[in-house]
Amino acid sequence: MDLSEIVKEFAGAAKTDPNLLVGFETGDDAGVYRLTDDLALVQTVDYITPVVDDPFLYGQVAAANSISDVYAMGGRPLTAMNLCNFPAKNIDRASLRRILEGGFSKIKEAGATLVGGHTVRDDELKYGLSVTGLIDPRRILTNAAARAGDHLVLTKPIGTGVIITGYRRGLADDDLLLRAVNWMAALNRTACETMLEFDPHACTDITGFGLSGHALGMAKGSNVRMRILFNDLPRYEESLDLIRQGVATSVTGSNLQVAKDYMTFSGNFTDEDKWLVVDPQTSGGLLISLPADQAPRLVSRLRERGNQVAAVIGEVVPSDGKPGLEFLK
Ligand code: CO
Ligand code: CO
Ligand code: CO
Repeated sequence: MDLSEIVKEFAGAAKTDPNLLVGFETGDDAGVYRLTDDLALVQTVDYITPVVDDPFLYGQVAAANSISDVYAMGGRPLTAMNLCNFPAKNIDRASLRRILEGGFSKIKEAGATLVGGHTVRDDELKYGLSVTGLIDPRRILTNAAARAGDHLVLTKPIGTGVIITGYRRGLADDDLLLRAVNWMAALNRTACETMLEFDPHACTDITGFGLSGHALGMAKGSNVRMRILFNDLPRYEESLDLIRQGVATSVTGSNLQVAKDYMTFSGNFTDEDKWLVVDPQTSGGLLISLPADQAPRLVSRLRERGNQVAAVIGEVVPSDGKPGLEFLK
């Protein structure tokens, strides 16, 4: 029995509370708990091992990654707490301080307040946040409400997993790493706030399970199929080169395993293309399902606000009982 099955045993007990609007059995980005008819809490926790050597940037990426799950529900971050698993050896106080400064800069940028935290000794460095946000209970964006006829918008490029791994192997240059890290450190705040100007039906963020895993979570949750135009996906072209050179992350294989029975590829797809859609992301973009006529308007609003890569990547179609992803070229 894997860990997720053990954890799910507790989901049933929690469901007896009528104020629990989104629990953990649906694999959503965050839990949502109703306080009043107009107000609910969004709660999430996440931490990661370093993706870059620079401690400040690592702190920024880890914090942006944690806060993102509040945005993926359509919420507004309110408070955050630091989670620090810091080694006793081989790291100096100045670096630990820089990690927290990086995290704090993102908490402030999100308009949230740091209210505390917890530190433990751990052989492997890890940092992240628990974040609490607020949301209107009528506007919660779960994975379960994408509708046939919707179009899909993705707000950040995919391919960061192989860039981080490729850099460690000396196959990616500083410039490429920095471009990817800048996107990872970017909050999904603008994407979320802009999305809420429209009538989105469903939203999630693209993280460790890759585009495939998170899109599939939405497709299954909503009982729909997603038709994704590969050439329209925002991505780092260099990631395809890195994959061609044999770069893979430690979870690329399991991401493919999880999704492969639910994916079809029509057109001249290379193996690299297929590995790219399962590439794990850190602090990836929002995947938004919204009415077709609103999708291009959302993209142009995001452009006006400085996001030059957000794109309409496909459409939602009926599942006929078989939810899944159809990649087209
Ligand atoms: Co998420
Ligand atoms: Co998360
Ligand atoms: Co969501």
